[in-house]
Amino acid sequence: MLLPIFAANFKKINNNIMDYKNLEVKNSSGIIILTINREKALNALNDQTMIELHDFFTNVAPRRKKAKGIVITGAGEKSFVAGADIKEFVGMDEKAAMKLAKRGQDIFFMIERFPKPIIAAVNGFALGGGCELAMACHMRIASEKARFGQPEVNLGIIPGYGGTQRLIQHVGKGKAIELMMTGDMIGAAEAKGLGLVNHVVPHGESVKKAKEIIKKIGTKAPIAIGKVVECANAYFNGVIDGYSVEVEEFGTCANSEDFKEGASAFAERRAAKFQGK
Ligand code: CAA
Repeated sequence: MLLPIFAANFKKINNNIMDYKNLEVKNSSGIIILTINREKALNALNDQTMIELHDFFTNVAPRRKKAKGIVITGAGEKSFVAGADIKEFVGMDEKAAMKLAKRGQDIFFMIERFPKPIIAAVNGFALGGGCELAMACHMRIASEKARFGQPEVNLGIIPGYGGTQRLIQHVGKGKAIELMMTGDMIGAAEAKGLGLVNHVVPHGESVKKAKEIIKKIGTKAPIAIGKVVECANAYFNGVIDGYSVEVEEFGTCANSEDFKEGASAFAERRAAKFQGK
């Protein structure tokens, strides 16, 4: 059963937390289901939605200490997110465009760096900023009907929410450049073959699969999970050395109560009970 956890309780958590118009936030067995909820516009990321996403990842998600992870999906049967809201692009000048891109990148960095699993349940179109949102998540589960693409060149622009960088990370430079230059859409099976998605599931089951994965991760040591995210991101940092980060964080994990518990549980042939300490 899905229980609304935030809508009615925003003010109880923090007076500054806003009411969301375009995001639906639910708790399903300790997993946050975050739905981009603009079905009529195929869940395009307009300004209001980006403000709400920023608020969610700044003020809400980090405070949900008991949440096991987050599933991000789109409302309706047809679309995950069909990109940035093109209708709001009319009249946008260079300065405004740069500000828009920077804000989007900052929000997607918060997703990419979040210390608990965030999985995109891609239930349809994941185009432009929608593909970029999915790529910022730690994993992607695609419905058989999912379609991925970076069609920005059709509009005279390029991906602006990190897509030029993350698509290369996921599928390699040659294929990424092909997809960004042609604007072609690819289906779920091809996306899986390219390594862009982790699993393809029947339509309507992407959230279920994402929840199953988060539930499994929820049995592991929370500090170690956060360090996996940190080290994986370090690989792509360009400035810091990922191997050094790994040494450091391996040490941090070894210094945790959870490591003692994990090692003892193994020796005692029982399931570990991790506390996140
Ligand atoms: N922005 C605003 N509105 C959008 C939208 C978008 N990105 N995508 C779809 N919509 C709206 C349509 O305008 C339409 O609304 P109206 O009925 O009010 O006109 C409604 O959603 C349904 O869309 P369609 O009628 O077009 O549905 P379709 O099934 O015929 O086509 C589609 C679906 C192929 C996804 C098509 O809507 C489409 O090509 N959308 C645009 C995709 C795109 O170019 N995304 C990239 C945006 S730029 C970007 O994201 C930049 C960045 O990196 C930050």
